[in-house]
Amino acid sequence: METNLKKKRVFSGIQPTGQIHIGNYVGALSLWVENQDQYDNIFCIVDLHSLTIPEKVKPDYLRRKVKEAAALYLACGIDPDKSTIFIQSQVTQHAELAWLLNCVTPMGWLERMTQFKSKAESLETVGTGLFDYPVLMAADILLYKTDYVPVGEDQKQHIEITRDIAQRFNHMYGEVFKIPEELMRKSGARIMGFDDPESKMSKSIGEVKKRHSIGLLDPPDTVKDTIMKATTDSNRELRFEYASPGVKNMLVLYEALTGKSREEIEKHFENSNYGTLKKELIDVVVETLKPIQARFEEIIREETYLNNILKEGRERATEIAGDTLDIVKRSMGLSL
Ligand code: TYM
Repeated sequence: METNLKKKRVFSGIQPTGQIHIGNYVGALSLWVENQDQYDNIFCIVDLHSLTIPEKVKPDYLRRKVKEAAALYLACGIDPDKSTIFIQSQVTQHAELAWLLNCVTPMGWLERMTQFKSKAESLETVGTGLFDYPVLMAADILLYKTDYVPVGEDQKQHIEITRDIAQRFNHMYGEVFKIPEELMRKSGARIMGFDDPESKMSKSIGEVKKRHSIGLLDPPDTVKDTIMKATTDSNRELRFEYASPGVKNMLVLYEALTGKSREEIEKHFENSNYGTLKKELIDVVVETLKPIQARFEEIIREETYLNNILKEGRERATEIAGDTLDIVKRSMGLSL
């Protein structure tokens, strides 16, 4: 605990709904694991965010997916001795702080959010929760006096608005919040869909559409089928700078999962065609997923083990979040 106090703090989370995929792994989960020793880590399963499109989230489904996400965090290498893992809805301060931050957040800021605009486009009814999504995310981050938020590129705007909200609050009520920064991979922060390399690989699309993404729990046959049919072009360009979007996406995945340099990779594929890249990428993905899936199968059966980790996580998170919320309330003139 003493050493934890000296380390910078990291906070991040994943929505448990949809199919957690190789893009989430490369952009977020693997980055969390890589940095685990360096920071004091808090990782959340953001189930309240999943409720912002309630039509897609039935109660039994949500219960199952929250447990699955927790087991996946652990299976990917999050170590409960080094990191706190908890479920957002079990720490009530998140929803409470979100309300208080709502009161200082101009609607215009939320109207500019590109993720809101694209999600709202496809919905018949847009809930207030979806509009307010970034404020809840700001509450998540600010409750823990977070220094760094490791995320994929799509969350950049949400971290920016978190900073804006924190600064506005501090300006109005005094220096209460720490201003967080994002932590992002230089390459691999935006993995694209295999079927459509112009759009980001998405959990919700991956759940309903074949060959869009690779789920962390997909069997080797599915991995093979998805990559073999991935969109390419009629050239033979296997250099990062000149490759078409679909080929570049596979090169970037290969780069992220092997840890090899771009120079090395281009040299390796110098006289190859797309078929060779695809075959090698299939092997790399299958080898990456194999140990994750094996650990997942063990963990998901150990209900008590999983529940204990989440219980301890909840207790630690509640303690930190409770302290922050008290300070926030006092600074706003609310009685405790
Ligand atoms: P979510 O659940 O959509 O995604 C989880 C993490 O995966 C990253 N990611 C990707 N990275 C690379 N390529 C992709 N195609 C790709 N798709 C997703 C995301 O950037 C994210 O890091 N709003 C967040 C959840 C959240 C959160 C937070 C994150 C709620 N509160 C506080 C950090 C801190 C979200 O919906 O992520």
